[in-house]
Amino acid sequence: MRPVVIAACLLLLAPITDSWWASGSAVILDPRMVCKKNRRTRGRLAQICRNETGLLKEIIRGVTLGATECAHQFRTRRWNCTTQRRSMRKILMRDTRETGFVNAITAAGVTYAITRACTAGSLLECSCEKGAPPKSRRGKVLPITLPPSTVPTERWQWGGCSDNVRFGLRKSREFMDSRYRKRSDIKTMIKLHNHNAGRLAIKNNMRIECKCHGVSGSCMLRTCWWRMPTFREVGDKLRDRFEGAAKVIASNDGGSFMPESPSIKRPGKRDIIYSEESPDFCTPNMKTGSLGTEGRQCNVSSAGTDSCDQLCCRRGYKHTTVKETENCNCQFKWCCEVICDTCYVKRDIQKCL
Ligand SMILES: *[C@@H]1O[C@H](CO)[C@@H](O)[C@H](O)[C@H]1NC(C)=O
Ligand SMILES: *[C@@H]1O[C@H](CO)[C@@H](O)[C@H](O)[C@H]1NC(C)=O
Ligand SMILES: *[C@@H]1O[C@H](CO)[C@@H](O)[C@H](O)[C@H]1NC(C)=O
Repeated sequence: MRPVVIAACLLLLAPITDSWWASGSAVILDPRMVCKKNRRTRGRLAQICRNETGLLKEIIRGVTLGATECAHQFRTRRWNCTTQRRSMRKILMRDTRETGFVNAITAAGVTYAITRACTAGSLLECSCEKGAPPKSRRGKVLPITLPPSTVPTERWQWGGCSDNVRFGLRKSREFMDSRYRKRSDIKTMIKLHNHNAGRLAIKNNMRIECKCHGVSGSCMLRTCWWRMPTFREVGDKLRDRFEGAAKVIASNDGGSFMPESPSIKRPGKRDIIYSEESPDFCTPNMKTGSLGTEGRQCNVSSAGTDSCDQLCCRRGYKHTTVKETENCNCQFKWCCEVICDTCYVKRDIQKCL
């Protein structure tokens, strides 16, 4: 009898809640939850979860890396990518462009942390790559180009320790995507697309570093290896994709999506996509995960997203004086010290009403 009852319950639940979607957000809120929830599954995900060699630890690092970068990229905006759980959970249950950004930067963070650990030699499963860039299944090498050489006739060769980005990309896919492969609803398609857009922000921006060899720096020979971009660069790229995010709807065939309006270009693989409009994030709303902007510090001389007008949603702002410490009366003491006093300075700041 039991299995029948459970199946019936699932059927009842499926159309009315998106509980599966909420559980999908678990990667970002707590990567360990993914393993708990998928205890009974087999396959690659289970292997990652069961293996104690540290991959999961790197995944957790990667999620934190993504969250920190998200907060940095959005620090001057109404929605500032706060890691406050209640809010983030709601953001992840929707399908707005903010959801898309969080999913993309998380997948990128996981790729990044794993790859970095491979290069550092701290994972048993992988190490850095030696030699020429690997060919992918379709025969294409990583999209990297050699930096222009100052000496046209200079010789160079692959060498050193290259970032094993292929391994990072694969593990990020296994951990973050494998649970969703069998679903083809619009939210899942968008999620997988944005995960991939996040990873491409690393893969498509690999760079080459070289070292010179030869008598007294003559650079007769260069050895070169490839490196990931900095994670700040990855964040910047994805923020650009967020600004140009494309709204999509499900196609009639049910297995793909298309731009909401036919006049818009089909989004490319690197683009962030979404299907729901964002709230304005002006006032607290627990349904949308908006915390509102009351009390946020705004900038009277800015014309951007942190201007008092924009950040405070035209509600106005109040002046507050804050005391800050500063080094002052600094004196140079022979030799070679600088001795300063600590002074208190009053600074005027503005906070949203
Ligand atoms: C854990 O990783 C090691 C190193 O790659 C591998 O040899 C082993 O089979 C893995 N164990 C499980 C349970 O997946
Ligand atoms: C982000 O926004 C929340 C809610 O308005 C606020 O409490 C928090 O201090 C902000 N964080 C930063 C770094 O400004
Ligand atoms: C306020 O905005 C101006 C103009 O964009 C900028 O130069 C200044 O550094 C900002 N101040 C703070 C405290 O962010």
